[in-house]
Amino acid sequence: MRTIETIQELKAWVKETKGSGETIGLVPTMGFLHEGHISLVNKAKAENGRVVMSIFVNPAQFGPNEDFDRYPRDLERDQRLAEQAGTDVIFAPSAEEMYPRESQISISAGALADVLCGAKRPGHFDGVLKVVAKLFHLTEADRAYFGQKDAQQLAIIESMVEDYNFPLSIRRGETVREEDGLAKSSRNVYLSEAERREAPLLQQALQLGKQAAIEGRDPVSVVRQYLDGRISGEIDYIELLSYPALAKEIEGEAILAIAVQFEKARLIDNLIFHVKGN
Ligand code: PAF
Repeated sequence: MRTIETIQELKAWVKETKGSGETIGLVPTMGFLHEGHISLVNKAKAENGRVVMSIFVNPAQFGPNEDFDRYPRDLERDQRLAEQAGTDVIFAPSAEEMYPRESQISISAGALADVLCGAKRPGHFDGVLKVVAKLFHLTEADRAYFGQKDAQQLAIIESMVEDYNFPLSIRRGETVREEDGLAKSSRNVYLSEAERREAPLLQQALQLGKQAAIEGRDPVSVVRQYLDGRISGEIDYIELLSYPALAKEIEGEAILAIAVQFEKARLIDNLIFHVKGN
């Protein structure tokens, strides 16, 4: 496995790879890998000749008071895990390499970012699209892989690809969970022991909410009541929306999503399922 830090070297690798007729699967990450990322690599390996993983803590998607500086980083550990999983290339650029100048043109996530995490983290998804669009161009990937835990991100990226005819397909990966149901996330390391014990309750609450939604009851109050007094974190939002349109009117696929702010970690989770129209 090779680690590439410059755009020039990446482009040379892409040219050689494409020249030999291989397809490229891209797994974009911010590093501090867990089984969720590895499952995306496995999927990418099964569907492409070569797999490139980007590892870049993207400053453009962090707000001024967010955790950019203390976001967990460990490139050596990531290199080991990525190599074991069969990644061909890690692309780990510096911020200066990715953003050598102030961008003149911005990409906006639009109304899809007005709900859920987008409403709480202004500019976050614009920053995600900024880096993802660059990575799509730089890697010339045939397929790119994103986890369903970040369901709003996935919907927004799918929308950009469709609206602007990016020549690749977006592949969804199932959320990978700990045995007790907690969704794997690089940010789980921020949880205190007590918070770690509470964290699986989010998924339990969502399961009860899903059942309520399917039976035509209000899932949001079911989730809220279940968590009330049982978690120390503060609920940021609980919402039921259509998926992937993220609209209030639901006919078919729906997402029941939650975000909870614990002392140092903001956890998100969701379930996507089918409901009858409302
Ligand atoms: O999901 C993430 O880790 C990031 O948002 C992504 C897609 C790698 C862009 O920085």
